[in-house]
This record gives sequence, structure tokens and C-alpha cells, in this order.
Amino acid sequence: TEQIPSFYQQFEKDFKIGAAINQRTMRSSEHVIKKHFNSLTAENEMKFESLHPSENEYNFEISDKMVAFAEEHQKAMRGHTLVWHNQTSDWIFEQNGGLVDADTLLKRMKEHIDTVVGRYKGKIYSWDVVNEVIADEEDKFYRDSKWYQVLGASFIEKAFEYAHLKDPDATLLYNDYNESNPAKRDKIYQLVKQLKEKDVPVHGVGMQAHWNIYDPSLDNIRKAIEKYASLGVEVQITEMDVSMFAFDDKRTDLTEPTDEMKALQTERYLKFFDVFKEYKDHIGAITFWGVADDYTWLHDFPVKGRKNWPFLFDKNQQPKQVLQKILQSD
Ligand code: G3I
Repeated sequence: TEQIPSFYQQFEKDFKIGAAINQRTMRSSEHVIKKHFNSLTAENEMKFESLHPSENEYNFEISDKMVAFAEEHQKAMRGHTLVWHNQTSDWIFEQNGGLVDADTLLKRMKEHIDTVVGRYKGKIYSWDVVNEVIADEEDKFYRDSKWYQVLGASFIEKAFEYAHLKDPDATLLYNDYNESNPAKRDKIYQLVKQLKEKDVPVHGVGMQAHWNIYDPSLDNIRKAIEKYASLGVEVQITEMDVSMFAFDDKRTDLTEPTDEMKALQTERYLKFFDVFKEYKDHIGAITFWGVADDYTWLHDFPVKGRKNWPFLFDKNQQPKQVLQKILQSD
């Protein structure tokens, strides 16, 4: 059994230490969550399709339970996510058998944001308001989503405005992945800069941090944090995991990580936390996209059923040695 100090208590003066949770890990990792994390994010349960499966139907049962769990254990709660191209019910984009018109889509988006942000006003300290609207392709700025097809880029600022009206105290983030890639980083920076110039209430950038033991480089991570922070907004690490595989590695034969993988992960995690501490004045929270290696979305991505070991707690809920080192080095 673990004899290490609490992860979040160690960093309480610097930033929150968070985890994404779901109904399964709330049980399987309950002790680890209670002891080591002071911020929680619902992995899927506050997404559009979970909360709002049809126009006149909301389902808050599971998200309410998570918020109550957070309150009971004095954990802060983040909200993920209000406007996204993925896991969003088809009905919102449909009207009379065709594509919805712009006015109607904007009304529906507002109604959703009003209802969800309003319900959790004061209970959720930070929302991922707009998620992943920047394109990965170098020659393209915005992702070509239904939101974009119907509304152009205008939905982005509207989403922030609506969310801010409903909960003026919540920290509102733009959230994205590949956030440390130089080309994408510049576009994210441009987007948030333009929003700030228009006085849109955007308060931070969420760096998802789906990283691995090789990529991205520390230099690119540093530059990303610096660039976003230079806009005068908060930076949050919102979905961190450190995969044992390079992005293009599709091997499926490993049932345990190799010693080399483990050593590289240890080294990387130590360096990441050195960087986070270096920029602690700009970073509000560091959230992992899960708790322990028994469950991660990476077990199904990019290869269905392939094991991965991306966290600081192993599949038996035990802290890895590197967590010990992170806590000692602080
Ligand atoms: O709920 C159904 C279940 O009823 C069904 O039997 C099962 C069969 O596959 O699927 C279940 O839905 C899955 C859902 O997670 C809940 O477990 C979906 O297939 C699966 O695609 C979905 O994956 C989620 C993914 O977002 C979808 O985009 C992952 O859990 C979640 O970790 C992941 O999180 C995203 C962030 O929201 C945004 N940033 C990237 C990050 C990783 O992709």
C-alpha cells in the first residue's frame, strides 16, 4: 500500500491536480481520487450527447452525481465540454429533414449553454467552452465541422458570451490537442488573440496534453505555454496522458510496458513537472485524462483493445516510482 504524501496537497500552492473520472473509475479508483486529486472532470458525462440526447430531453442524472461526489469530497469540478464537433447529438444540426439554419442552430446552442452552465453555476469553476475547432492541416485554420458549416466562426465567440452571462465567475477555456505542435499552436494563439481583441470573455487555453514518451519536445511544450500565457490568460493542462507508444506505433503484441518504455516515461514525467513548476504562475490546474492504468481511453486508441500505461498510478492503483520522485523534487 502507498505511503506517499498526497499529490494535490504537495502542489496546492501552485496549481490544482485533477483527473477525469467516469462511473467505473469513481469506484475502481475511489481511494486514489480522494487522496491525490482536488479537481475532477467528467470524461464523457457532461458532453452534449450525454446531457441532451433529444431536443426536449435533458439527462442530468449522472453528471449531478459527479458534481455531488465532488462537493461531498471537497473537490473542485471542471466542465467538459459545451461546444464540440464530436459526441454531439445529430438532432441539433437537423431541421425538416435537412441541415439546420443558422438562427435556429445558434438558438439551440444558447439554450444548451444556458441550461447546462446555469444548472452548475458556482459548482463548476472552469468550463471547456469550445473544444477542438482549429484544424490540424497546415493550410487550414478552422476545422470543417457542422458548427462551422452552418455558422462560420461566429459560434465560437457566441459560446463564450453565453457561458459568461450564465456564470460570470467561471474560468472559460478554449481547449485543444496537438496544442504544442508549432503550426497548430500558432493558430490557437491567433484564435484566442482575436477573441481577446474583441473583448470576448475567454479566460484561458486548455492544453489537452495527450503526449507520449517521445513527443512533443520539451521545447515545443515550453513555447506553447509561453505563447498562450503571453495573451494574459490562464493556461490549464486539461487531459494529460503520456502514452508508451509513439503516435505512429500500432504494435499490439505488448501485454506489459518494456523497461525502456518505463524509463522513458519516468524521465518524461519528471521533466514535464519541472516545466509546469517553472510556469506555475501561469498554470491553474493540471488534469490527467484518467486516474490509473487499469482504465484509459488509450486502451481503445488508436488500436482497439491495445493496452497502454499512461498515468502516474499503475493498474493496481499503486503510485509509480516516478510520482514519488515528482513529490520529492518539489
Ligand atoms: O457508451 C457507449 C456504450 O453504450 C457502448 O456499448 C460502447 C461500445 O463501444 O461505446 C460507449 O461509448 C464510448 C464512450 O467513449 C463512452 O465510453 C464510445 O464508443 C467512445 O468513442 C467514447 O470515447 C471517448 C472519446 O472522447 C470520444 O470522442 C473517450 O471515452 C474519451 O476519453 C474521449 O475524450 C476526448 C475528450 O473529450 C476531448 N479531447 C480528446 C479526448 C480523447 O479522445
